[in-house]
Amino acid sequence: MKKVVLTDGLHVLIRPQTLEDAGELWRLYSSLSRQTRLLAGVPEQMSEQEFHERMAENVKNKNRHRFVCIVQSPEEKFIGYFGIDTPEDPETGWIFLFVQDAYQGKGLGKEILKYIIEKASSLGIKTLKCQVDPENTPAIKLYQRFDFKKEKELIDSKTKKLAYTMYRAVSSHQ
Ligand SMILES: CC(C)(COP(=O)(O)OP(=O)(O)OC[C@H]1O[C@@H](n2cnc3c(N)ncnc32)[C@H](O)[C@@H]1OP(=O)(O)O)[C@@H](O)C(=O)NCCC(=O)NCCS
Repeated sequence: MKKVVLTDGLHVLIRPQTLEDAGELWRLYSSLSRQTRLLAGVPEQMSEQEFHERMAENVKNKNRHRFVCIVQSPEEKFIGYFGIDTPEDPETGWIFLFVQDAYQGKGLGKEILKYIIEKASSLGIKTLKCQVDPENTPAIKLYQRFDFKKEKELIDSKTKKLAYTMYRAVSSHQ
């Protein structure tokens, strides 16, 4: 668990996802723009039941480490979600993140990346990887700021669009 303060003074709590978060996460998912859903690689549409099933699986699956970002005032509200997954190799963590549209550009993305790197180190992950849309300048800039380098180009299996992977050693200096 970590508390951070964004550039506009908002206080945000970052902590691991629990089963009880599913309702708040559904509200967060429902509030995202289509663009943010597409760029984050989350399904454009889902039924509430399907969403709850996915969330339960995310909490249960030992290869998925998922986290929530909660703004503290005026009332608690979920504004970000991110994950580090180790689907094949426990030393390679695949990451994704998104910030609710109205809260983008306030420094939360950077706090999430810092948290991911700290967490990955404690999980014994040696390399972090992500997949990005080449047109997603904000995400690419954010990853580059944290020393991620371009790895290879590929065609995304879901969107059939060009994408590329980026990587960084967990122990690199920030
Ligand atoms: C990418 C994303 C997570 C960044 O989160 P954020 O909270 O807006 O990011 P921050 O405010 O911490 O900005 C971090 C850095 O990202 C880059 N960045 C953010 N918004 C940017 C923009 N509109 N244009 C260019 N660079 C941008 C900058 O390098 C910025 O650092 P700087 O302000 O010191 O220059 C957010 O834009 C988002 O949720 N996008 C949709 C989903 C997505 O693309 N996820 C990543 C792919 S898995």
